[in-house]
Amino acid sequence: MPRVLITGGTGGLGSELVPRFAAVGYTIRVLSRGPKPHSSDVGWGPSPDEWAQCDLTTGAGINDAVAGCDLIVHAATGAGRRAKVDIAGTRKLVAAAKAASTPHLFYISIVGIERIPLGYYKAKLACERMIEDSGVPWSNLRATQFHSLIDTFTSVLSRLPGVLFLPKAFKFQPVDTGEVAERMVEYAAKGPSGRLPDLGGPQVLTWGEMAADWLQARGQRKTIVNLPVFGRIAAGFRNGYNCLPADRHGTPEHADGKMTWSQWLERKYGGRDG
Ligand SMILES: NC(=O)c1ccc[n+]([C@@H]2O[C@H](COP(=O)([O-])OP(=O)(O)OC[C@H]3O[C@@H](n4cnc5c(N)ncnc54)[C@H](OP(=O)(O)O)[C@@H]3O)[C@@H](O)[C@H]2O)c1
Repeated sequence: MPRVLITGGTGGLGSELVPRFAAVGYTIRVLSRGPKPHSSDVGWGPSPDEWAQCDLTTGAGINDAVAGCDLIVHAATGAGRRAKVDIAGTRKLVAAAKAASTPHLFYISIVGIERIPLGYYKAKLACERMIEDSGVPWSNLRATQFHSLIDTFTSVLSRLPGVLFLPKAFKFQPVDTGEVAERMVEYAAKGPSGRLPDLGGPQVLTWGEMAADWLQARGQRKTIVNLPVFGRIAAGFRNGYNCLPADRHGTPEHADGKMTWSQWLERKYGGRDG
């Protein structure tokens, strides 16, 4: 049985990767900073076969974590300390993979990171370069924003009563984490393939449109008020550099995700049709 190490296996994407790799016959080893939780706490079906407790920023335990793996799927990322976890952690993971002669390192990245000067995106770009230059056989899939990320950001901004302030013109092409995970499992079967075709959701929407659907799905009434934001990062999101390029009919390339924002909201909130 081939063995896959999934860094970030407890996270949003990782918890979708675990059951899908298990279903195609992999022995699953999850890398996490914490001890093995009860599987129902994370949302997996069957529990992972193996658990590697390791903090990627220190690298303690990393050699044991990668030992004997046919594939490493690197989906761990920092929150708050993103650059440190992403850059230092990826450096340690790559070094361990190289030392162990791991046959395939599969990275998950984000569409448009070279066009929007966000610190986190610069860190992702640096990680991509590290992996490409590592000498370890690699694949890299870039995806657009996950539905869950827009849901979280909108939720954080919705704490004021009666109003929802956000940059209404920001564009997103949200994609379902389950569909991203499925795509990664399909590509992993092909072996190291370098930079893969990007993956995006089926629609490009403004945050204003998405927020209206979000409020409706939650049965909330609030006035959506534009939050003016300036600078190159904001311009990048307004121009949709984080979305896939569209053809002359406005259809984005590789908009292969099927689940729409409204469908995702309905699944999450069991609500009305957005
Ligand atoms: N969210 C999006 O919209 C989006 C879009 C495209 C691509 N991506 C990429 O997809 C990947 C997964 O994103 P996500 O949103 O699913 O992430 P997430 O839910 O925030 O999960 C992050 C994971 O990283 C692990 N982690 C954090 N710090 C760590 C450390 N120091 N050492 C080891 N593990 C650590 C966490 O595991 P423990 O807490 O168990 O240690 C957790 O499982 C990321 O590379 C992200 O850039 C995300």
